[in-house]
Amino acid sequence: MTQAPTTPPAASDSSAPKGLEGITAGDTTKSRVDGVNGKLFYCGYPIEPLAEEGSFEECVYLLWNGELPNAAQLESFTADLRRESTVPSEIWDVLRPLVKGSTQMDLLRTAVSAMSAFDDEVADTREAIDGRDEIERRIANRLQARISTLVAGIYRLKQGQKPIAARDDLTYAANFLYMVTGEEPGEYEERIFDAALTLHADHGFNASTFSARVTAATEADIYGAITSAIGTLAGRLHGGANMRVMRMLEKVGEVDKAEAFVDDVLSQPKGRVMGFGHRVYKVEDPRATVLRRMAKELTDRTGNSKWFDMSVKIENRVKDKKGIFPNVDFYSASVYGSLELDPEIFTPIFAVSRTSGWLAHVLEQHADNRLIRPRANYVGHGERDYVAKADR
Ligand code: COA
Repeated sequence: MTQAPTTPPAASDSSAPKGLEGITAGDTTKSRVDGVNGKLFYCGYPIEPLAEEGSFEECVYLLWNGELPNAAQLESFTADLRRESTVPSEIWDVLRPLVKGSTQMDLLRTAVSAMSAFDDEVADTREAIDGRDEIERRIANRLQARISTLVAGIYRLKQGQKPIAARDDLTYAANFLYMVTGEEPGEYEERIFDAALTLHADHGFNASTFSARVTAATEADIYGAITSAIGTLAGRLHGGANMRVMRMLEKVGEVDKAEAFVDDVLSQPKGRVMGFGHRVYKVEDPRATVLRRMAKELTDRTGNSKWFDMSVKIENRVKDKKGIFPNVDFYSASVYGSLELDPEIFTPIFAVSRTSGWLAHVLEQHADNRLIRPRANYVGHGERDYVAKADR
């Protein structure tokens, strides 16, 4: 058998850093990630007061409109969200046969994609740019309202239970917890969960947001963009990490085994402790600081400090040995765990919150669009002659 001789690769473009590290890929007015000082801002506001004093509804309004709502604006925005929270029954019918063989994130991705079939306005956004923003804002509202019902309902389908309809008298955070458990949460649990939603809402050009923008930049519709983003969020290096943090804590099992566990992971080639490290933050992720505080508070209230104590031991050991810090996924796991949520729903919860940021970015991309299309640095064979099948 003969192979055609190859010539060296053609002279190539200069390559971007692997993983596009350090590359600024575009402009945004939504969030600013200060990786050197460990700060995060939404539209100029530091995330700490937004999470601890504001509400998730306020945060979504801010990301979509660039300003905090006044009382009347917030009331009308909240009412709009509540009005749209019902998921068409056909979507549950699409999902039912898939439940056994799919993860909750798989089901969510399919459901969001399928929902475009039940949105009468989406076709209008695919061709015309004039007036698109107004229609897309209505679609964004619908999708943000329904994503919470979907995630809660998908969780229940996986448990062999029926989805529960949203109530019209609860906040976004309380409604979600109600639709998961069937019980209205306490005020404190609602407050903590609401803050966790706010903390996960937006984060510059993170991988899933960038995916959403790349899809939106082809002038694809919102459902296409959010479906791309959900597929991207699911990976273990991104949103899929929070569930794996909880699985790791369960595996460690006891507080006094935490350090040996870390040593073992780090002794393995390419060993990764889930919930640590970040592409942009070189100091502690500011979201982890708030979530750690919340996890401690929850622990003090419930008296069950196991997950928290274990997390602190792991954190200190990883810092000592690798000099890296916890990211948003590390303490969100103990917060959700202390709220007695199932680890399998952790990443879908991330999607509920991040949908608000994805939508903000899709609206922003469409408002001043240009196709996102980088070049590839080709490093394969140089030009060679085609070899007929019989001669290979
Ligand atoms: N556990 C152990 N070591 C880690 C680590 C982790 N979680 N995260 C990074 N490192 C180490 C790497 O081994 C590497 O060390 P080395 O230079 O000695 O080889 C160094 O830190 C840089 O890692 P790198 O993979 O190049 O960073 P990145 O910017 O490409 O990746 C993440 C960023 C988030 C993907 C990465 O930190 C990670 O895999 N974290 C775990 C998953 C996670 O928590 N994801 C959620 C992110 S919000």
